[in-house]
Amino acid sequence: MRKIVLASRNQHKIAELAELLADLGLTIVPVPAEAPAVVEDGETFQANAAKKAETIAAYTQEWALADDSGLEVDFLGGKPGVYSARFAGEDASDAENNAKLLALLKDVPPAERGAQFRSVIALARPGQPTIFVEGTCRGVIATEARGFNGFGYDPLFYLPELGKTFAELTPEEKNRISHRAVAMAKLKEVLAEILSGADC
Ligand code: IMP
Repeated sequence: MRKIVLASRNQHKIAELAELLADLGLTIVPVPAEAPAVVEDGETFQANAAKKAETIAAYTQEWALADDSGLEVDFLGGKPGVYSARFAGEDASDAENNAKLLALLKDVPPAERGAQFRSVIALARPGQPTIFVEGTCRGVIATEARGFNGFGYDPLFYLPELGKTFAELTPEEKNRISHRAVAMAKLKEVLAEILSGADC
């Protein structure tokens, strides 16, 4: 059975991926504790995902997967983007990041509050080019936080067609439509194709 190392220490992501890829006959293993830490200093999600996946593939000599994601707000020209986790400062909390976003959009009318979450997943294979897939999910930045599920910007990310923010969805509902779910569905297609082809 082929092993894929997930270049993340996030147990939630490991479980999610393991479930998604179960029927492809793949074993998802966590990154070894002694593997080198990767500094996410890229200017794009793709650069960060590639850096993480390629570092771990080189270290383990196994296939490695990594993802990078964030929020892109139209009115802010795509910011915070790769700076989503540290928008309000290096160790900023979710609440601080959300407060900064609300302040920057204070008098912005509803029609100009469009935004999207983006997720890029990189699959690095020793000696072969890295493959990328990505997913987006569009919504609107609300004028106040709503809901308690999820994490990050979820309480501000409003989906007009559902009348709810991401934080008001159950994990199952979010996992059906999120940027990560879209990227993972594409990853599954790509992996199925690679595993059935000659370049495996
Ligand atoms: P990472 O890709 O897990 O490092 O996520 C980077 C940052 O993007 C997080 O710390 C959040 O601020 C934001 N983010 C990414 N995905 C989500 C999501 O599904 N909901 C809310 N915030 C997210």
